[in-house]
Amino acid sequence: MKKQFIAGNWKMNLTIDEARGLARKLCDESVNSGVVDIGVFPAFVFLRDICEILRGSKVYVGAQNMYLEKSGAFTGEISGPMLRDVGCTHVIIGHSERRTIFHETNSMINSKIKAALSCGLKTIFCVGEKQEERDDDKTNEVVGNQLSEGLAGLTSEQIKELTIAYEPVWAIGTGKTATPEQANEVHTFIRNTIRSKYENDTAQSIRIQYGGSVNSKNADDLLGQPEIDGALVGGASLDVKSFLDIVSAAARSS
Ligand code: PGA
Repeated sequence: MKKQFIAGNWKMNLTIDEARGLARKLCDESVNSGVVDIGVFPAFVFLRDICEILRGSKVYVGAQNMYLEKSGAFTGEISGPMLRDVGCTHVIIGHSERRTIFHETNSMINSKIKAALSCGLKTIFCVGEKQEERDDDKTNEVVGNQLSEGLAGLTSEQIKELTIAYEPVWAIGTGKTATPEQANEVHTFIRNTIRSKYENDTAQSIRIQYGGSVNSKNADDLLGQPEIDGALVGGASLDVKSFLDIVSAAARSS
């Protein structure tokens, strides 16, 4: 059984005081962190402070995005080495909000994953279909393309540093969750796709999180599915109690 990984994507939310407060509470109360991996992903400008607060705790800190070059004339961007420099161990790449609002393509995401791994950042790679793609029965085709283009050229050693997050776009921030069975079905497809490109061991060991309106009420059912190895949590990660309730659900299903 793999250790579940619960990650809180704070998105563009909170003030610095609220972010610090949330991190301090997590530091004090993350009782289950021995059996569950926990990570938080604050806005860039909060990262240094949050890394300080959580240093020595079992809570990982990561960024929600990064640029693919190490340094240079890229106004407004943040590089992987900069994230390492302030203490991040993780980064999210290819979130659907990056894909849809900021027009990130599979090939750009592939370059970002390679850049992240090359500077030692563990990466959560997000995939997921839109509502109309699901309605047209294209879920596997869309997710399959995101996987093959996003992971192009990666070795199985590199794949082992990844977590994949399956986040159906129609479930993000909508309160509409995939049923546990729907999620488990796509997770099985993702694992089989990895298996077809890499060794069985790699496919078995890679963690696949579910994301999209996960909360303390639906977490037990989702995390109890055999192919679901954790959750990428948006809205519910902004409240310490609901986030830790999801962590407890993950501990129960371990
Ligand atoms: P949500 O966001 O939990 O608010 O739906 C999930 C995500 O975007 O990672």
